[in-house]
Amino acid sequence: MTRRAGIIGHPVAHSLSPAFQSAAFAHCGLDVAYERWDTPSEALAGRIVNLRSAEYLGANVTIPHKEAVIPLIDELGGQSARVRAVNTIVNRNGRLFGFNTDGPGFVAALKNEARWDPAGRSVLLVGAGGAARGIAFALAEAKAATIAISNRTPARAARLAGDVGAPAIAVDAGAGLSGYDCVVNCTSVGMEGSAAPQAVSFDVSNLREDALVVDIVYVPEATPVLAAARARGLKTLGGLPMLVYQGALSFELWTGVGAPVDVMFEAARKALSERGRAS
Ligand code: ATR
Repeated sequence: MTRRAGIIGHPVAHSLSPAFQSAAFAHCGLDVAYERWDTPSEALAGRIVNLRSAEYLGANVTIPHKEAVIPLIDELGGQSARVRAVNTIVNRNGRLFGFNTDGPGFVAALKNEARWDPAGRSVLLVGAGGAARGIAFALAEAKAATIAISNRTPARAARLAGDVGAPAIAVDAGAGLSGYDCVVNCTSVGMEGSAAPQAVSFDVSNLREDALVVDIVYVPEATPVLAAARARGLKTLGGLPMLVYQGALSFELWTGVGAPVDVMFEAARKALSERGRAS
C-alpha cells in the first residue's frame, strides 16, 4: 500500500516541502506520496481526523494552523507543548502525536551548516512570533548562555522570555548589538512578497567581526540583512538549511529512517530555482 503524508496549511502552493520530502522518500525506497493539503480553517478538524487511518504516516503543519491543531491531536512530544506549536504530526496506530521540529531544525542548521555550536554563546533573536518561539526553546535546550529577545511589540518578547525562563531575557535591540555572538532575524522583514522586502530588522554595523548573522527567511537567498552582513565580511547563514533540517527531523519521526539530508538540500534548491524562474 502506498502510504501518504503531506503538508497542511493555507496557502501551501509555494511550499518546498513536497519537493524535498518526495525526493527523500524516493531515495530511501519508501512508497510514500507526499502531497499538498491546502486546508482552510473550517476544514482543519476533518483533515486531522483523516490522518488516523492506516494509510497516513502523518503530516507537516504550517501557517496558519500550528497552534490550532493542538486540541485536535492526542499527545504532544518534545518541546511542542511549551512552544505551543506543532509542525509535525505522526500517526501511530490511529493515535496522533505532535512535535515541533522548527527549533531543533534551526539548531541542526547552525551546527551542521554554519559549524557553530550555540552552547555557552550569547544569541539575540529579533522577533517573538511563532518561529522565534521554537528557536528560543531549542537554543535553551542547546545550552546557549544568553537568549536575548527583541521585538517590535516588546510585550510579546517579554512573554516569550518568561515562557522560556532563564537564560532567556527580553531586550531592546536598539541598545546595541556588540555583546552578541549571533543575531537571528526571526521576523518576516526582508522576505519577498512581505510588506517590507527591502528592509532590515537590525543594523549589522555594530556587530563584532566574529559574529554570525542568521536569517530564517529563505526567499530571496540574499536577504537585505544577509547582504549587509556579507558586505561587512561577517559570517552568515540563510533560511534554507533550517527549512531542510526541520523537514529531515519530521522525516525521521515518520519513518524511523535517517534522513538523506544531502538529497533533500539538492531537491529544495532545485525547487527554489525553478520557482524563481516561473515567477
Ligand atoms: P511567524 O510564525 O512566522 O514567526 P508571526 O507569529 O506572525 O509569524 O510573527 C512575525 C514576527 O515578525 C513578529 O515578531 C512580528 O513583530 P510583532 O510581534 O510586533 O508583530 C515581526 N514583524 C513582522 N513585520 C514586522 C515589521 N515590519 N517590523 C518589525 N517586525 C515585524
